[in-house]
Amino acid sequence: MRSSFSRDRSVTEHRFERGTIRRVVAYARRYRAWLVTFVLLVLADAAVGAAVPLVYRSIIDDGIGDGRRGLVVALALVLAGLAVVAATINLTTRWYSARIGEQLIYDLRTEVFDHVQRMPIGFFSKAQTGALVTRLNSDVQGAQQAFTSVLSNVVGNIAVVATTLGAMFVLSWRLTLLSLVLLPLFVLPARWVGVRLAALTRERYRLNGEMGQMMTERFNVSGALVVKLFGRPDDESADFAGRAARVRDTGVTQALYGTFFMTALALLASLATAAVYGFGGLLTLDGGLAVGTLVALTAYLNRLYGPLTALSNVQVDVMTTLVSFERVLEVLDLEPMIVDAAEPQPLPEGPVSVTFDGVRFRYPSAAEVSIASLEGVAVLDDRIPDTVLHGIDLHVEPGRTLALVGPSGAGKSTIAGLVSRLYDPQDGAVRIAGVDLRDTSLAEVSRAVGVVSQDVHLFHDTLATNLRYAKPDATDAELEAALRDAQIWDVVDRLPEGIHTVVGDRGHRLSGGEKQRIAIARLLLKDPGVVVLDEATAHLDATAEVAVQEALARVLEGRTSIVIAHRLSTIRDADEIAVIDAGRVVERGSHRDLVALDGLYAQLVRTQFGDGDRGEPCRPCEPCEPCEDVTLERIPVIEDPDDPEAAPAGREGDAALAVTGSPPEAP
Ligand SMILES: Nc1ncnc2c1ncn2[C@@H]1O[C@H](COP(=O)(O)OP(=O)(O)O)[C@@H](O)[C@H]1O
Ligand SMILES: [Mg+2]
Repeated sequence: MRSSFSRDRSVTEHRFERGTIRRVVAYARRYRAWLVTFVLLVLADAAVGAAVPLVYRSIIDDGIGDGRRGLVVALALVLAGLAVVAATINLTTRWYSARIGEQLIYDLRTEVFDHVQRMPIGFFSKAQTGALVTRLNSDVQGAQQAFTSVLSNVVGNIAVVATTLGAMFVLSWRLTLLSLVLLPLFVLPARWVGVRLAALTRERYRLNGEMGQMMTERFNVSGALVVKLFGRPDDESADFAGRAARVRDTGVTQALYGTFFMTALALLASLATAAVYGFGGLLTLDGGLAVGTLVALTAYLNRLYGPLTALSNVQVDVMTTLVSFERVLEVLDLEPMIVDAAEPQPLPEGPVSVTFDGVRFRYPSAAEVSIASLEGVAVLDDRIPDTVLHGIDLHVEPGRTLALVGPSGAGKSTIAGLVSRLYDPQDGAVRIAGVDLRDTSLAEVSRAVGVVSQDVHLFHDTLATNLRYAKPDATDAELEAALRDAQIWDVVDRLPEGIHTVVGDRGHRLSGGEKQRIAIARLLLKDPGVVVLDEATAHLDATAEVAVQEALARVLEGRTSIVIAHRLSTIRDADEIAVIDAGRVVERGSHRDLVALDGLYAQLVRTQFGDGDRGEPCRPCEPCEPCEDVTLERIPVIEDPDDPEAAPAGREGDAALAVTGSPPEAP
């Protein structure tokens, strides 16, 4: 069983960043008033607890011994009173510790959430979601538990041990020493177990995190689909069972160690009680000790060992708190690579120019955007990724359309991402309306730039809520208008609850084309001056595409746009076309110029854009001569011999011939 998990020595052998303690104290300072009350309550509790055995002694020695009935009754009433007081203090203490603890959880959680969602997109492409969720859940909770337990441990137990030992020494120093002799026999193994217990707890956090990670990854639609399509459910279950087994095994060991603790503690108390009764009884017979004192001493014994052992393990508790805190602080300390300028310049409303000025870019390495523990690896990959864009110069005048064309992997989507400032370029600048994106705020950029890409994500919520994400104060009438403009109103109107229909986890009640048009409606509501379409029609069948094309026409109207398209018709309508290959702009001009040039563009037109036009690419631009140069025979026209009508409608799978497909081959 033991061999199935590795020992995590990180707790006891962990070196803390300087300042962690200072920062934990800074957190504690936020709850100063509550903490002071809490400590006072804990001290009061210790005092009440210490008084009780003294009352026992008085009842036996003064009351029973001297035959004073009144005193016996009075002291019994005092005992009852003390019990009530102790209970009240206990409740109030618990209330305070819960308040402090829960407030701490709340503060840490909201801070981590707020911080994480502001991280650049590169962080999310590297960090494991499951690990992040764990960090928000168990580490935050670990920090809280240890925080409050350290508090009550240190303060409460020191108070209890001090009062108890003090009272015992006063009552009989000999018996007190006797009861302490046994202590090391217990404390040393207890410490050993305590260290292991803490390590086990860490191990369980990690294993639980791994299990959660696996579930989140497999139980979303795309993950589940891969599992199904590859017929791997048995392997998946075995893998999961392996992880769950390790959680089970550590749990058993943890329970065992925990029980060892309690059992050893009870054993120690019983042995000590036996010893004290034995020696104390003899002392009493010799007249050296009153009976009441002996009873009081044994009562104290029961209060002594628990706190003493706990104190001997305080170091482990403190360490555990610090580790949890550190794991949370580590996330909070991640510097977002993309931050607002100190004095952000506003971006003008309406169509504005977009400029790429000698932009060189590579994606960040894992080490630059994440932390190792979030990715389940010991050391982050710090290899510098290859440069993706090698000096891109582009300029789109306000209200004009630039089409980007190029083989898959050329860097088109990367260019699109830079317009929304998902990343910053290493060299050169991306400007909107002449403003370097680094000199403005992310809020300004996201207001100015709207994106529709191939993969539309809708939150699991109503359509209306999804749409209002773009414009929170939009009226129902505005939503309807946007949906109409996006050519999707008819579909929405037919839904059981109209715009209040919940679109499943990933918008599963809607087809690809419908989702695409919802995304377009969302964009229309946002009404940005710059639009980026990244293969927005790539997943669509022909009928959906007609509708989407109409909707897109509305989107492009009166806006600056950068269109990455895989349909010749979209590209041809652009004011300018830039052909991207391996991170460089290799050709630029109009469709006519580029076809005449007979370079990469002409080649792409022949090999890749054929399906989009289904054998009739020249009709919309009949007078355009270079078009006729395009060798139409090379365009793969797929016809169904049984149903000639169906041919132009295309088939599912057409999208596979999109630009995202394989790179062009020489014809
Ligand atoms: N998030 C990412 N991290 C690292 N490399 C990436 C990332 N996204 C894309 N790339 C790489 O950048 C290059 C350009 O990709 P991309 O811009 O998506 O091409 P396109 O859209 O033209 O098909 C490819 O080599 C790809 O592997
Ligand atoms: Mg792409």
